[in-house]
Amino acid sequence: MTDTSLHALDKETITKAYARWAPVYDLVFGAVFERGREAAISAAERIGGRILEVGVGTGISLPDYSRANRICGVDISEPMLQKAMERVAKLGLSHVEGLWVMDAEDLRFPDDSFDVVVAQYVITTVPNPEATLDEFARVLKPGGEIVLVSRVGAEAGLRKALEKWFAPAARKLGWRTEFSFQRYAHWADSHAGMRLVERRAMPPFGHFSLIRFTKIGETASRGADQPQLRAAG
Ligand SMILES: C[S@@+](CC[C@H](N)C(=O)[O-])C[C@H]1O[C@@H](n2cnc3c(N)ncnc32)[C@H](O)[C@@H]1O
Repeated sequence: MTDTSLHALDKETITKAYARWAPVYDLVFGAVFERGREAAISAAERIGGRILEVGVGTGISLPDYSRANRICGVDISEPMLQKAMERVAKLGLSHVEGLWVMDAEDLRFPDDSFDVVVAQYVITTVPNPEATLDEFARVLKPGGEIVLVSRVGAEAGLRKALEKWFAPAARKLGWRTEFSFQRYAHWADSHAGMRLVERRAMPPFGHFSLIRFTKIGETASRGADQPQLRAAG
């Protein structure tokens, strides 16, 4: 589904916004999103193996993954990814297989490449969330999981009104405020082979949720032989 609403995002706005955020991102969003990141990593590591983090940003979560896993990271913003590369070099993060500038809606990996696809605070920043989830499902192995931490819009009341009011400003900052849980549930219902397995409220103020989907099929196995990455960069 393409988002044709008044407050739809476009990639140029997003890349400009995150080029501005890159120098201060960790300072502003480091602590506030920490609990969500911890929950996402813990969910991803219950499966483990080869993990793709989409919208990896400055690589703030990379040091928190166990060295037993292999992590691939992609992001549309070169300045954000540059910070991630510096972090990998500075901390010697040898479990990071690679980092690529890549669009979440057009992942240059073969089908069934990853045991887990993680996207933290990303789905509400992409122009076409459902097309992006389709890509996540495509590159995921059967038995694997998509693990999201994402903003979920209020269904009613004052928060809903505030989200609507703040939407135009939020778009310039690089994200949507209005985004119903029904969109995630509907995507899973309409995507044969994918099943919603968890929704858990996350801080701050429960405005975010950990959302997990599984790809029906044989369980993804830790350390199994992996398909090779197609030329990417
Ligand atoms: C709110 S930040 C989250 C960064 C990181 N995941 C974290 O936990 O802090 C959103 C990230 O998604 C990236 N992003 C937005 N749209 C994207 C797209 N279409 N493809 C890949 N990355 C995208 C942005 O550049 C930014 O780094």
